[in-house]
Amino acid sequence: MKTLRVELGARSYPIYIGQQLIDNPDCFLPAVRGRQVLLVSNETVAPLYLDRVRRHFVDADFIVAEHILEDGEVYKNLQQFEGILTTLLRHDFSRDCCLLALGGGVAGDTVGFAAACYQRGVDFIQVPTTLLAQVDSSVGGKTAVNHPLGKNMIGAFHQPLAVVADTGLLTSLPERQYLAGLAEVIKYGLIRDGAFFSWLEEHRLPLLQREQDALMHVVEQSCLNKAAVVAADEREAGVRATLNLGHTFGHALETALAYRDWLHGEAVACGMLLASRVSVARGWLAATELTRIETLLQGFGLPTRLPAHIGADELLALMRRDKKARGGKIVLVLLDAIGSARIDDACPEPLLRECLSAS
Ligand code: NAD
Ligand code: GLY
Repeated sequence: MKTLRVELGARSYPIYIGQQLIDNPDCFLPAVRGRQVLLVSNETVAPLYLDRVRRHFVDADFIVAEHILEDGEVYKNLQQFEGILTTLLRHDFSRDCCLLALGGGVAGDTVGFAAACYQRGVDFIQVPTTLLAQVDSSVGGKTAVNHPLGKNMIGAFHQPLAVVADTGLLTSLPERQYLAGLAEVIKYGLIRDGAFFSWLEEHRLPLLQREQDALMHVVEQSCLNKAAVVAADEREAGVRATLNLGHTFGHALETALAYRDWLHGEAVACGMLLASRVSVARGWLAATELTRIETLLQGFGLPTRLPAHIGADELLALMRRDKKARGGKIVLVLLDAIGSARIDDACPEPLLRECLSAS
């Protein structure tokens, strides 16, 4: 087992990475301060793994309740969030209770937001079960639900007490979900870790085969990158914005598709290629690097072209509502090179429209 730390002073916490971690009570019990624990999972993940987590708390005589969410990005909404709060109230859970999110980014973001709001904030533990959640969403304390008019528009910063990333759980992940997670992995290579990008190019086959050594390396390297960025800028006043490479395009696409059809990681992959194209058009990124990026994304079966029926104007309107936008002006994360990101708040819209229309 590897242990990393997110260094945030009094709110610092460990990230445990390894195989069979969900069978180890020491990954869970030391983090819990009170006696009441709400285990939250979804209808797909709970039958696979919830028993293995529950028994640690039952054996240690905690008061344990459960809440099962519906599965899917379309259910990352205020109704599911409210359902968690209702379960907490029905069980008379008090302020020293602890929530545990067992699932992908949808469960983690929804549970984290419920923990941020219940009685003005209670503890929670992240047990990410998708690649995307292990490398990104479970770390850093961004919690949210979607609104029909905008992705992740209702949320809070609320850090977990611990993150337990069991790479053994990734074997049951459907192929498309696994590949979508690799988009956020590639993101770290693009924004701040060119050596990791090269490693990903060289380890395509072991990654496609989900070899445990390769998975361990990918989760560890991604979490190291994410933890460093979050420690430097927890509330996204500066460098943390670079973690949104491709997301301004991707979130607009997800909203335009009503959170159906494309997975979050797929939308981010397409968005990262669009951001790379704009970076070339701005004269910052070399065309040869754009080719490397497109080749790597396609090598992992990730989409690099927008759906034909989504228009540039529709996407631009949604992009103006992005959380990085200032006064309706689109702010983008672009690239100088593989391994180096920059913020662009002055991209001419005609250039942006041209890149979107050409995709
Ligand atoms: P997800 O949570 O919908 O999980 C994907 C699918 O895999 C679901 O059907 C789920 O039930 C299933 N699943 C999960 N683990 C499994 C396992 N081990 N075996 C079999 N099936 C399993 O999707 P996701 O890609 O994990 O997360 C996407 C969400 O994460 C988006 O809403 C996105 O906005 C959010 N996100 C948040 C942050 C953040 O910083 N908070 C960062 C990136 C993404
Ligand atoms: N996934 C973006 C962030 O955590 O800031």
